[in-house]
Amino acid sequence: MCGIVAVAARREASEILLEGLRRLEYRGYDSAGMALIDNEKNLLLHKKLGRVSELMKAQAMEPHLGCVGIAHTRWATHGEPSAANAHPHISNQRVALVHNGIIENHAALRGEMIDLGYEFTSTTDSEVIVHLLHHFLRDGETMLGAMQKAVGRLQGAYALAALDTENPGQIVAAREGSPLVVGVGIGENFLASDQLALRQVTDRFIYLEEGDLVQITSASMQVIDLSGQRVERQVTRISEALETIDRGNYDHFMHKEIHQQPRALADALQIDADRRISAKCFGTGAEAVFDRVAAIQIVACGTSYHAGMVARYWLEQLAGIPCQVEVASEFRYRTRVQHPGTLLVTVSQSGETADTLAALRNVAEGEFVGSLAIANVDNSSLVRASDLVFLTRAGAEIGVASTKAFTTQLVALMMLTIVLGQRRGSLTENKARELTNALHSLPEFVQQVLELDPTIEKLAEAFINKHHTLFLGRGIHYPVAMEGALKLKEISYIHAEAYPAGELKHGPLALVDADMPIVAVAPTDDLLEKLRSNLEEVRSRGGELYVFADKEAGFANGPGLRVLQLPSCPEVLMPIVYTVALQLLSYHVALHKGTDLDKPRNLAKSVTVE
Ligand code: AGP
Repeated sequence: MCGIVAVAARREASEILLEGLRRLEYRGYDSAGMALIDNEKNLLLHKKLGRVSELMKAQAMEPHLGCVGIAHTRWATHGEPSAANAHPHISNQRVALVHNGIIENHAALRGEMIDLGYEFTSTTDSEVIVHLLHHFLRDGETMLGAMQKAVGRLQGAYALAALDTENPGQIVAAREGSPLVVGVGIGENFLASDQLALRQVTDRFIYLEEGDLVQITSASMQVIDLSGQRVERQVTRISEALETIDRGNYDHFMHKEIHQQPRALADALQIDADRRISAKCFGTGAEAVFDRVAAIQIVACGTSYHAGMVARYWLEQLAGIPCQVEVASEFRYRTRVQHPGTLLVTVSQSGETADTLAALRNVAEGEFVGSLAIANVDNSSLVRASDLVFLTRAGAEIGVASTKAFTTQLVALMMLTIVLGQRRGSLTENKARELTNALHSLPEFVQQVLELDPTIEKLAEAFINKHHTLFLGRGIHYPVAMEGALKLKEISYIHAEAYPAGELKHGPLALVDADMPIVAVAPTDDLLEKLRSNLEEVRSRGGELYVFADKEAGFANGPGLRVLQLPSCPEVLMPIVYTVALQLLSYHVALHKGTDLDKPRNLAKSVTVE
């Protein structure tokens, strides 16, 4: 949620910190701050309400120089967005600290620290940590020792980085429940919540384990594990080309990422030369695990949950495997009865979503035959904690609204369906080949939808002044409607709900009037005639319909009915093809409305707190 960057170097650190924050801004963007230690061991602090650009302006107006520094971009959990609540937090003008996560026992600790004479200047849960650190340092602890004692007092989740003017070359950090990586440089070392923040300065990273403490200087690094022992953690070199995080010729990352989908989908697909999909795509040992699978439990949040909802139709209909799908925040706290032989499948773009990660970590011994993570970020916490992994290879997704990550997740889940269906004998060789061939042609169909961008832009005008919308679908296109509604609400702030069309008459039909646009996902499938009847129910009540359909569905523009004609494609591709059109609709509605659509209000890209 929040983003952390820290630098211990021999060169000026502020530029690296600010560029790192700029790259991390997708994680949170309500306030930002930076603390540096200068040559005279002074602590220099800038904190600003608003975007990283505000912090950059403050630094340009009043340059703070130093080789050791920490910086933070915030997504408020405890305490409103304000300069006072922005990080770094400071104790006695000596210690500075940045925190990502939530400290559950902050109220009790705050009382304790106040009793010890500490004064609080913010309403955050984080400020207690900096005073705790100061307290232990004042008692004569080393920085690592003080951090070890401080985190021993914390309940909750955290990634922390701190500096101390009396130990000016060092930064100490710790992680538990929130991600933190060490960037390994030559004559300089770094820390960040996401390696993306540091790709301009290094390609070598250490992914810290839960409970790790680390101390960096420009010349050294020391990692201490949960048991207090010094450990060596593996350095991973990121070999792929440096991911550009500029918008290219697009005005928004979201638009760029929607248009990147033909490439991303082709990259996600792993089809052998003989047009087969191998179980090995899911990791070594996948075959042995898959042979024991009798049922699937998918767990995810938000858009990734919708991918799971689509996959349930595929897994049950094509592979003949019972499949349950649940949002992680519910799954993790529920008493469950698991079908024997169930495979736990977690789906997550970031691989860092706190609820999804907790769901995976909290499963009982022997509850599942194994765990498979479908994720977009290599070396993410979810990837490292799972038995099997499928990397969706969508490339960095910066827009808060997930687009290419969703469609590549669907590719992964269809590949899983094909592999499992074949191993169970539910899918014939011919059917598997037909599905694989369809997947192979997917990028072309998506390209055809992208060419409708100007048409969809025009269609979007009708939504600008609306306050509510309904999205309808039936069968597998109901979760597609859910994803369409989520996209519209998160970036345009228009209230949008999705319903299975057959459910309309059980309540939501009461909402239908000329002010309520209704978007129907209506490709030609087995349920089209049922859907058509539901749409008639809407029309006869004066509802305004926007029908996304192929030519064969036979809808025509008329009073109260506008049709967006989408390419006719194999049935298995429809959820992806129609989703791309819905992404463009949301994008253009938000664009017309002038919202900050890459960074919608109140949201963050990576939800690493509960
Ligand atoms: C999607 O547009 C959202 N911003 C959000 O629902 C997201 O999908 C959810 O937070 C899960 O994230 P993950 O895929 O990184 O786990």
